[in-house]
Amino acid sequence: MAMRMQLTLTSNIRQGQGDPKKHSTLTRCAVHNSEFLSSHTPTLVRQFNPKIPIEEAVTPPTSWYTHPSFFHLELHRVFYRGWQVVGSTEQIKDPRDYFTGRLGDVEYVVCRDDSGMVRAFHNVCRHHASLLAYGSGKKSCFVCPYHGWTYGFNGALLKATRISGMQNFNVNDFGLSPIKVATWGPFVLLNLEKVTLSQEVDYHNVSKEWLGSCSEILSTNGVDSSLSYVCRREYTIECNWKVFCDNYLDGGYHVPYAHKGLASGLKLDAYSIAMFERVSIQSCEGSLEKSKENYDRLGRKAIYAFIYPNFMINRYGPWMDTNLVVPLGPNKCRVIFDYYLEHSLKDDTDLIEKSLQDSEKVQIEDIVLCEGVQKGLQSPAYSVGRYAPTVEQAMHHFHCLLYENLIQ
Ligand code: FES
Ligand SMILES: [Fe+2]
Repeated sequence: MAMRMQLTLTSNIRQGQGDPKKHSTLTRCAVHNSEFLSSHTPTLVRQFNPKIPIEEAVTPPTSWYTHPSFFHLELHRVFYRGWQVVGSTEQIKDPRDYFTGRLGDVEYVVCRDDSGMVRAFHNVCRHHASLLAYGSGKKSCFVCPYHGWTYGFNGALLKATRISGMQNFNVNDFGLSPIKVATWGPFVLLNLEKVTLSQEVDYHNVSKEWLGSCSEILSTNGVDSSLSYVCRREYTIECNWKVFCDNYLDGGYHVPYAHKGLASGLKLDAYSIAMFERVSIQSCEGSLEKSKENYDRLGRKAIYAFIYPNFMINRYGPWMDTNLVVPLGPNKCRVIFDYYLEHSLKDDTDLIEKSLQDSEKVQIEDIVLCEGVQKGLQSPAYSVGRYAPTVEQAMHHFHCLLYENLIQ
């Protein structure tokens, strides 16, 4: 059964405030001014050839993982286009809840208004550009910490302080710039590109655009809203965001060498990889014989879904965790882990503590690997690598998708 989806374009235009053209232009400028992108970035993109079959292909060159212009190109062509996961509905469970974040240069705030509708805006005051909200929490309105301009949860400018004498000023033209927002299951998505004047939105399209033919597969494999939210863990890693993704997409290749504890609970010879439009799914059966203890956590089948470009959903036994890889710079990213558990186990503190400890151990092992790879990529000794064709198909698929995205 397809999952219920909610989508909103929070806009002052909808509320009949101000000049629609003015608002849409402002928002477009915020994410589409790519003139500064250097002219040699297309050359960098073409250093990888997606047409070469995996058996003969070389991996993208080091410049893809280290070059500042390439990183800027990725922000503009990859992250400022299409649907991007930014958080969990848990963060905006009730009306007046909000959370803030940053993707590339875009500062955003996501909130739930009094009617229960999820809305998102550029988190920038229209007076002198101060960030408006910080962190997360609950508020009845957004008061700018600089000079007190105040905005409602619909983005409208409710109060502009000390503006007597200001001419040609209409508060209706100075609401927050809206961002298109949707939810799928427990995930909150933003689309920084599409600010359309038409308010008609096809809800099913979001699911299709984001997951393609995979939305049903994920729903039927227990990726849904029925799980209980447990907690969040964040790790800042000194590596390019793609190094973390590549590590995730090697088909379990590194598991026996780098995660010996995890390897004992998985039947690595039963690893399978399936690729879809923008999603790849790696699955692995739990190994009952090898370790009863690990089997309890990993269950019969572990599913690792990678959703291009930077979101991973791991469903194993009673657990689901998601990994959001936020690019922070050519050599830095932050990975946000959200943990969910089957409702019947949500009070089993022993299980939760043990599982989180096991998971943390794996994350730390991966962080060491990823930071080691980034250092290696920066070394003059390395330029391109090769793929192990039987296990690294999902990684190759990821690089091909990225190429297509960057070349357009
Ligand atoms: S910058 Fe927000 S009120 Fe001045
Ligand atoms: Fe790993």
